[in-house]
Amino acid sequence: DWTMRAFREEEIAKIRAQVGKGRVICGLSGGVDSAVAAVLIHEAIGDQLTCVFVDHGLMRLNEAEQVVDLFRHHYNIPLVHVDASKQFLGELEGVTDPETKRKTIGRLFIEVFEQEAKKIGGADFLAQGTLYPDVIESVSFTGGPSVTIKSHHNVGGLPERMNMKLVEPLRELFKDEVRKLGRELGLPEIFVGRHPFPGPGLAIRCPGEITKDKLDILRKADAVYIDQIRKHGLYDEIWQAFAVLLPVKTVGVMGDGRTYDYVVGLRAVTSTDGMTADFYQFDMKFLGETATRIINEVKGVNRVVYDVTSKPPGTIEWE
Ligand code: XMP
Repeated sequence: DWTMRAFREEEIAKIRAQVGKGRVICGLSGGVDSAVAAVLIHEAIGDQLTCVFVDHGLMRLNEAEQVVDLFRHHYNIPLVHVDASKQFLGELEGVTDPETKRKTIGRLFIEVFEQEAKKIGGADFLAQGTLYPDVIESVSFTGGPSVTIKSHHNVGGLPERMNMKLVEPLRELFKDEVRKLGRELGLPEIFVGRHPFPGPGLAIRCPGEITKDKLDILRKADAVYIDQIRKHGLYDEIWQAFAVLLPVKTVGVMGDGRTYDYVVGLRAVTSTDGMTADFYQFDMKFLGETATRIINEVKGVNRVVYDVTSKPPGTIEWE
């Protein structure tokens, strides 16, 4: 892609000019944006960049391993992998309010990130995969600048605390452009084509209290759902698809026994930038088959529902 090749060259020059001989630290989230930002910056300044991946225990099935593998083995980019899941889940115990969840995760993320940054001797710059919609989402259609719909998770607050300047090479791009840039940089298709994943992770797909057990159920249900979508060749038509574990148990019947288990909600939307979205029109046969698979393959779930809400009025994530 000609435009992205030019963009890549331009940004590399800009990053070099901005950073000079300084040290840069980049937080990876497991998502496309931070990965593309990191690879681009690495291309510009090589070993002046260190990536830090804080695993909050709220990742999808096998996701942490995939990130580590991509950076350490595919690219050979130095990566600090911190397993902070106990700390995050510990502090989230008993927390049910969506904004409190987001803020708790945001604060802990900063704390853990800061500790790790200190361990490697600090840095002059903090790199982030901020996109154009991230910059403007808080002033979107839903009620003007004075209304915060959701506190978005990023490493806000850190640059000042640690006296770091920001490097945000993707600030002018939309998601589809970031994907093009990722391909241009040689990221594997399975990574580039991935649906967006929010910073607070599965915490905001598990309304009510978060527990390790619930997260494990959710991870399995989500993996079955995504497997179904891939098998039916629908993954690339959908902007984002994921499972939500509802904090409700309902009665069911299995064989000749009564069950009393959780409900899984399925979400799938089409969108171009995440700011508005339409629910995806699966055919009923697909939904029925998926429900059967989830209930058969995931212990603890006996009912599946499909979310037919577009954005607005619904947001994409449930919290
Ligand atoms: P909502 O739920 O606001 O989501 O309709 C719009 C898009 O943003 C993603 N999202 C987040 N991404 N940190 C992120 O990096 C967050 O805190 C966050 N919250 C929502 C969401 O997955 C969707 O793609």
